[in-house]
Amino acid sequence: KATTTILDIQSKRSKDIPITMTTAYDSITASWCHEAQSDMILVGDSLAMTSLGYASTTDLPFDEFKYHVKSVCRVPGPSLIVVDMPFGSFESSIPFGISNAIELMKLDSNVTSLKVEVGLHTKDKYTPKLIGELCARGIPVMGHIGLTPQRAHSLGGFKVQGNKSVEETRELLETAKLLQDLGCWSILMECVPHKVATLITSKLDVPTIGIGAGNGTNGQVLVISDMLGMQGKSVPKFVKKYSNLNEIAINGIANYTKEVMEKSFPETASHTFKIKDELWEEIEK
Ligand code: KIV
Repeated sequence: KATTTILDIQSKRSKDIPITMTTAYDSITASWCHEAQSDMILVGDSLAMTSLGYASTTDLPFDEFKYHVKSVCRVPGPSLIVVDMPFGSFESSIPFGISNAIELMKLDSNVTSLKVEVGLHTKDKYTPKLIGELCARGIPVMGHIGLTPQRAHSLGGFKVQGNKSVEETRELLETAKLLQDLGCWSILMECVPHKVATLITSKLDVPTIGIGAGNGTNGQVLVISDMLGMQGKSVPKFVKKYSNLNEIAINGIANYTKEVMEKSFPETASHTFKIKDELWEEIEK
């Protein structure tokens, strides 16, 4: 199947067909997403915490992130690839943000869009300007609103957004509209009440993708390590675990370790290579 385009995603929205997105962090997880026909892959900066052992997404070095983007992009497949702009790659100045955005797009021609976390428009006077500049330069941007983990300290922690006051809900809606007007081709909403996300979706002409935002958005995204149970820790309330890879992996490794200790692996008949009898007789002489 040919690679999915932004037009394909927009057309799914117009036909009311749900859009699917899954994060991937390397060539293995990317190949799973392609095989499963996920519409989009997000190379999210969540990889800092889910795969690289950092305490926060803000700890992720840009160079390490780029290495993972390249690994995801090396795998051919149908899913459209969206790449996060990690913390530190765009805040210093507009020219700095633009040149890092171009660098991400140039890592691989399979990078189709960037995703940028944005605060409420009354507080964040900078990021919408940058997004406008990127869109004006033909760089596709998915705007990320609601709970924006890169801004967790400013938000007072990892909390649901858009539920504290009428003003806050209105500002969230206005921010989404502003991003659409600036050229964002899609809006991702994280940890927003179901009713608010559904309202925002109904007021926009671009596809919305939700995480912890209920089923009224045009599409859904989940972090792959959460949905597949790749880590032995609890997952956020909004996650559904579709597998328990952590348990499967530990059991597999424990069985292997046991069999090595018992000397039942490798089995001579099936897991080893042969040498011709005549050659061996010669060597043994
Ligand atoms: O980095 C990420 O994985 C994300 C998702 C939580 C949407 O931004």
